Amino acid sequence: MDTVSIKQEYEKTEIEKVISNLEADLIGLTPVKSRIREISALLLIDRLRKTVGLTSSNPGLHMSFTGSPGTGKTTVALKMADILYKLGYIKKGHLLTVTRDDLVGQYIGHTAPKTKEVLKKAMGGVLFIDEAYYLYKPDNERDYGSEAIEILLQVMENQRDELVVILAGYKERMDIFYESNPGLASRIANHIHFPDYSAEELLEIGKVMLAEQQYKITREGEDVLLKYIQLRKEQPLFANARSMKNAIDRARMRQANRIFENNSQVPLTKSDLVTLDITDFLQSRVFALPTPEVAKPTSPYGMYSQQLQPGEWGQ
Ligand SMILES: Nc1ncnc2c1ncn2[C@@H]1O[C@H](COP(=O)(O)OP(=O)(O)OP(=O)(O)O)[C@@H](O)[C@H]1O
Ligand SMILES: [Mg+2]
Repeated sequence: MDTVSIKQEYEKTEIEKVISNLEADLIGLTPVKSRIREISALLLIDRLRKTVGLTSSNPGLHMSFTGSPGTGKTTVALKMADILYKLGYIKKGHLLTVTRDDLVGQYIGHTAPKTKEVLKKAMGGVLFIDEAYYLYKPDNERDYGSEAIEILLQVMENQRDELVVILAGYKERMDIFYESNPGLASRIANHIHFPDYSAEELLEIGKVMLAEQQYKITREGEDVLLKYIQLRKEQPLFANARSMKNAIDRARMRQANRIFENNSQVPLTKSDLVTLDITDFLQSRVFALPTPEVAKPTSPYGMYSQQLQPGEWGQ
């Protein structure tokens, strides 16, 4: 065989579906999407080269995802694992998310087995190391994090056909982390930055989330939600799309309460049940708060991002 069809190969891998889902499901993230398309194209051409008997060494596909909390890093990592699997780059295609505590032990001799165990579980898939900079603690010479890094480095180099590693975290801290760990930095071919969403993008994200949950807002509701976003963005601990999710959850709660208090005797229509009105948003604490003069904390990422979900500040 000396001709090959991109289209056929494309269809065979179902990659078209994954990529168009990615484009449709995720609002904004234009630079991220185009990087993913580039990576997919490279892998697809690689497959085609193999089918006509050309050599193709697996390109290094370890990645770095940087960005503020809630910008979609975990979501995109999941999709990435799926793409790599469908293109035959990895055999199993699962995503294993870990943080420092999963890799590094507390006592001498504990770290190597812990890290190796995690690597074993991740083989054939993607290992996603969230807040990777916690692996490196320069103030503590005897920190076991560097032992985990050493093992990771070896596996990233020697078993790149079997495992893709994605290091994720807040941009500034990741940059410092790479400066101190050039060995890691040089093994990562793809640095992808997730920009903060604009207020308009967050409104779109909010509307998608509402539609998914079979809720809707009125035209005026949209204006109020946009205002909410603009105010909320200036408050501390703002977490992009995750803050939208939380805002919507709370608006749903207020709507339920409002219906319950006002209409306990009256039959409800479907429209009553699905509509969030402006009061459901206007009751947010954000509208009563003064805009802070002090800047946000410099590194909200690690300290708060994971704990924030239900009772996030500023509601
Ligand atoms: N572009 C987007 N469009 C629609 N929904 C999004 C988008 N980005 C993120 N989300 C949603 O926002 C939530 C948070 O996203 P995700 O967990 O991927 O962010 P993250 O960058 O990993 O955050 P963290 O740094 O805090 O771990 C998820 O529910 C996700 O579905
Ligand atoms: Mg995440």
